[in-house]
Amino acid sequence: MTFRTRYTGLIDRYRDRLPVHDDTRIIGLGEGNTPLIRLNNIPGALGKDVDIYVKYEGLNPTGSFKDRGMTMAVTKAVEEGAKAIICASTGNTSAAAAAYAARAGIQAFVLIPDGKIAMGKLAQAMMHGAIVIQIKGNFDEGMRLVKEVAEEAPVTIVNSINPYRLQGQKTAAFEIVEELGRAPDYHCIPVGNAGNITAHWMGYSEYFEQGIVNNRPVMLGYQAEGASPFIKGEMEDNPETVATAIRIGHPQSWDKAWKVREESKGWFDSRSDEQILRAQKMLAEKEGVFCEPASATSLAGAIQDLEEGKIPEGSTIVCTLTGHGLKDPDIAIQQSGSDMVTVDADLGSVKEAILKNL
Ligand code: F0G
Repeated sequence: MTFRTRYTGLIDRYRDRLPVHDDTRIIGLGEGNTPLIRLNNIPGALGKDVDIYVKYEGLNPTGSFKDRGMTMAVTKAVEEGAKAIICASTGNTSAAAAAYAARAGIQAFVLIPDGKIAMGKLAQAMMHGAIVIQIKGNFDEGMRLVKEVAEEAPVTIVNSINPYRLQGQKTAAFEIVEELGRAPDYHCIPVGNAGNITAHWMGYSEYFEQGIVNNRPVMLGYQAEGASPFIKGEMEDNPETVATAIRIGHPQSWDKAWKVREESKGWFDSRSDEQILRAQKMLAEKEGVFCEPASATSLAGAIQDLEEGKIPEGSTIVCTLTGHGLKDPDIAIQQSGSDMVTVDADLGSVKEAILKNL
């Protein structure tokens, strides 16, 4: 019998491709190495002959892709002597920052939009001992305040404007390429601040430029209709969507993302909240994969583009599922509440409930 080497996280795995030294103390939780799941039922349901894979980033330690960037950002912050980190967040970044700060033994401060953060994410930030500052404003206002306060207080910003974040996040593209033996034809990804689409393109390009693969995907960035500055072509002040993770009107990686679109010959598009929730439910019901609403924007994007023939049949598509469904139980229950039946606690009633649904 042979035993597999213990997986200790993405910095160990990609040490040569990341800005760390031999003696860097790594702040890690075993992040990365997430499953790339081939959809078995949805392509048939759509009547399309395509290979769609989902990269299930919800299986990272804090339940989102943010852990990839956060292990790098916190490792470097600690190496540089930081005693505290800070971020603005729609929820997932704050959960990751809180967890990695706890692991490192430093303090995390997180600014979140008052009342617009999914319950699971808030629970995480609080449990990991972050100081949670709710602001009476949205993410974009929080981001502005974080930049201002970091000028005046000894705190390291761990939002994706911290370049180490993108370094960590680019490893998702490495994993996809290693598993498929090539880059996919299309990579569909939800876009908020556009850090993740930028990081993926960096990862694919690194392998391409070094001759490890000879193709790069067309990058497709999808936003929620009510928070779609890339589709409108300008920043917007009052973003609104059920997908609270991407309720962002002033993306931080604006220029970088336009460059990704240009270099990859890709496009940006938006999907309605209804389409997003439908894709989320479809993944859960037809494939057994539960992601949060924002994550399903990638699949909602791919579905319409397949239906309209913008993505041709025969393509290999990867959709990033950025966060776990358990992050936002309220929306999930609202979506599925009508599926629940309540019966008397007797055999006859339970049996009837089963037989009429077979
Ligand atoms: N999906 C989820 C679940 C997210 O939490 C985010 C961003 C995105 C997609 C968009 O990624 O910003 O790199 O384009 N969440 C940030 C946060 C804003 O604070 O957790 P992006």
